[in-house]
Amino acid sequence: MLQKDKILISNNLNIIDNNLTFGGACVSNLAEKYGTPLYVMDENSIRNRCKEYVLALKEVLGENAMVLYASKACSFKKMYEIISEEGMGADVVSIGEIYTCLKAGFPLKNAFFHSNNKTDYDIEFAIDNGIGYFVADNEEELYAIEKIASKKGVKQNVLLRLTPGIDPHTFDAVSTGQVDSKFGSPIETGKAEEVTKIALSLNNVNLCGFHCHVGSQVFDTSVYNETIDIMLNYVKMLKIKYNFDTKVLDLGGGFGVRYDYTDPELKIYENVKKLATYVKNSCKKLEIALPFICLEPGRSIVADSGITVYTVGTIKKIDGYKNYVSVDGGMTDNPRFALYNAKYTVVPTNLSKNLDMTCSVVGRCCESGDIIQENVNLPSDIKRGDLIAVLTTGAYNYSMASNYNRICRPPVIMLKNGEPYVAVKRETLDDIIKNDI
Ligand code: LLP
Repeated sequence: MLQKDKILISNNLNIIDNNLTFGGACVSNLAEKYGTPLYVMDENSIRNRCKEYVLALKEVLGENAMVLYASKACSFKKMYEIISEEGMGADVVSIGEIYTCLKAGFPLKNAFFHSNNKTDYDIEFAIDNGIGYFVADNEEELYAIEKIASKKGVKQNVLLRLTPGIDPHTFDAVSTGQVDSKFGSPIETGKAEEVTKIALSLNNVNLCGFHCHVGSQVFDTSVYNETIDIMLNYVKMLKIKYNFDTKVLDLGGGFGVRYDYTDPELKIYENVKKLATYVKNSCKKLEIALPFICLEPGRSIVADSGITVYTVGTIKKIDGYKNYVSVDGGMTDNPRFALYNAKYTVVPTNLSKNLDMTCSVVGRCCESGDIIQENVNLPSDIKRGDLIAVLTTGAYNYSMASNYNRICRPPVIMLKNGEPYVAVKRETLDDIIKNDI
């Protein structure tokens, strides 16, 4: 396989005159203009991903469906503006994300409030600001929503999170649909039915339907068919036993993305169409009304719409052992290797040289686990001041970034038709101390 094919893992990447380009812009020029470390995101690519989801659902289900962007994947004001313009709703998991929606002018009626532990304050804040739906995790949350909704004299739309008992065979920390998950109520044990009955008995809770999410970085789409079978059979059981009509069914997110050339490419448009057709046909077969269908993609909307650019600092060659290339960021802007052993494609932005040295690319935090990637191939004469890019960092990088070691978080530079603009400013040292008394 050509070196080029190992690098060009998404179609917004290119190599022109030996320089890496992303979203139509020369990556080293961006680094020169905005400094490093730098998150770069391609607005065109984000919008294209959104359009694939929206169009595919619409073609099969018409207006009876909605794509909710799982904003935990990457949340800042501009993201909510983009998804709203693309006709999508949002999955939010905290009042921080809700507040960001509000400040972005995102219509909160299209937001679904997840999380397995909403405080009374969270619930009150969300109701006061007109949240569309709560996705209640358990009965305790149902009672809390009931209490606060009744105090405010509203009947609150609620979905119940259920666990269909599916193991998507991905990394444990991102699997969520099994019976023993911390999320939701399992169908298999009878708990789901028990919680559904509670929801139906509450005056200020308007039970609209159900939610499930089996996991993340899923490539085997048969997992979704199994999930749909289980959820629709549950819907049918409720119709027969309680004459309950499920109006909304939210099937979660999870489509996998390419972190390196060994990952398959999961085609969104084709697979969403298949999934939607499967739902439609299954409802017919089961003789139940087709609910309003929601999908909640996060990673597959933003992951390959983002890269991170770093400047190389210290290079350490421990003869007979290992080579280290340190960069001016690390686990503070990308904790995913430290947390999940996540793989990434790491490349120099100048691709004129042979990649003839194997090394670990590490960050600058005071922590041995501060690694971006192991077994990276870079030129053996790489030196302080050279630039490298880590690809596919658009999901769960900025949103999971921290100020560990009081390191400032990088800015997010967006590209629109190749033209850069600042979507999130670089943190300053004054930002770091702004809450210190
Ligand atoms: N819906 C729910 C209820 C979820 O919990 C998630 C992700 C999604 C949708 C979106 O899943 P996606 O399409 O992004 O796979 N921090 C981890 C990922 C955690 C995923 C949490 N839930 C990572 O960096 O891989």
